Amino acid sequence: MPRSIIAGIGMYVPENVVTNNDLTKYMDTSDEWIQERTGIKERRYAHRTNETTTTMGVEAAKIAIERAGITAHDIDFIVFATLSPDYYFPGCGVLVQRAMHMKEIGALDVRNQCSGFVYAMSVADQFIRSGMYKNILVIGAEKHSFGLDFTTRGRNVSVIFGDGAGAVVLQPTEEDDRGIMSTHLHSDGGEAEILAMYNPGTHANHWKDGLADFDEAEIANMFMSHQMIDNAQLFPNMDGQAVFKKAVVKFPEVIMEALDKNGYQPSDIKVLIPHQANLRIAQFVQQKLKLRDDQVFNNIQKYGNTTAASVPIALCEAWQEGRIQKGDLVCLAAFGSGFTWASALIKW
Ligand code: COA
Repeated sequence: MPRSIIAGIGMYVPENVVTNNDLTKYMDTSDEWIQERTGIKERRYAHRTNETTTTMGVEAAKIAIERAGITAHDIDFIVFATLSPDYYFPGCGVLVQRAMHMKEIGALDVRNQCSGFVYAMSVADQFIRSGMYKNILVIGAEKHSFGLDFTTRGRNVSVIFGDGAGAVVLQPTEEDDRGIMSTHLHSDGGEAEILAMYNPGTHANHWKDGLADFDEAEIANMFMSHQMIDNAQLFPNMDGQAVFKKAVVKFPEVIMEALDKNGYQPSDIKVLIPHQANLRIAQFVQQKLKLRDDQVFNNIQKYGNTTAASVPIALCEAWQEGRIQKGDLVCLAAFGSGFTWASALIKW
C-alpha cells in the first residue's frame, strides 16, 4: 500500500494586520492582557468584501499545486476544512473546484473546526493509500473576522481568532521510509456546547431543554430571529478555561499515541506543529513532553488562532524557514471544538 507524501504546500494570509491595540478601539481589552493570556500580538483580517474563506483557500492552493509541480487540472479530489464557509451550504470544496476550473472531481467539506485540517489530511491519506486518487488537494481556511462579536461582551473569543488559509497536495509514494506514517482521530461530544456557535441551526434547544413543545411563534424564531441578533446569539461561545484544561491533556495524549504507534520518542521529533490555539497551551505541551524550543513551531503571535488553517499555515512557514528537511520526523497535532483532537506523524 503506498503512503502519502506532502508533494506541495502553500499558505495565504490577508495583508491587513490587526494589532491588539487596534482591537482596543472596539472593546475593553489591552495588548498586555491578550499577550499574557494567549501570546498573540497581531492577526490578519481578510478584506471585508474581496476575500472569502474560499478565495483565501484558492490562493494557498495555487502555491501548493505549483510547488507539487502539477496543475489544477491534475487534482483528482478536494478536501476542504473550515468552520467559516462562504455559504451554510454548499461547502467550500465545490467553490474551489469552480474557481480553479478543475475537472468534475469529488469535493468534500470537513467540519471539525480546529482539528479540521488534520482530519481532512487523514481522509485524503486513506484515499491515497487505497489507490483511489493520486493528487489530492487538502485545504484549511477561515474568515473569522466576519463573524465575531467586536464588543466587550465578545472579547474573550474575538481577540483570539484570525483569518488565513493553508493547503497541501498529497501524492502517493513507493518509498517506504517516507510519508504520512499514521493519523489518529478522536472526539468526545459530551461537551459539544462548550465551544460552539449554535445559531443558525436546527437544534431547537434540545440540548438545553430536552424534547419540548413550542408554539408556532417560538418555532418560527428558532433558526434565525431578530432576538438572536439583539442577544448576540449569532456569535461563537467559548468557556475558555474548560477548553484549556481539556486541551492540555488531549494534546500530549494524541502526540504520544502517534509516536508510540510508530516506535518513536518525543526526542525523535524534529518539529512539532501544534494547532495554534493559544501559546500557553503549546508551551504546556512542550513542557509535558520535554521538548526543546527548536522542536516546537509556533506562529500564533503573528496570526492568532486560524482554526482549520492554523496547522497548514504553521507547517508551511516552518518548511519555508528551512526547519523541515527530507527525512525529518514531523508531528501535527490539533485540538478544538467538538471536542475533537487528532495527530499525524510524517516522515518528510
Ligand atoms: N481582554 C481583557 N479582559 C478579558 C478579555 C479580553 N480580551 N477576555 C476576558 N477578559 C476578562 C474576563 O471578563 C474576566 O474578567 P473578570 O475576572 O472581571 O470576570 C477575566 O478576564 C478572566 O477571564 P477568564 O475567561 O477566566 O480568562 P482566562 O484566564 O481563562 O483566559 C482565555 C481566557 C480565552 C485566553 C483562555 O481561557 C484560553 O486561552 N483558553 C483556551 C481557549 C482556546 O484555546 N480556544 C481555542 C480552541 S482551539
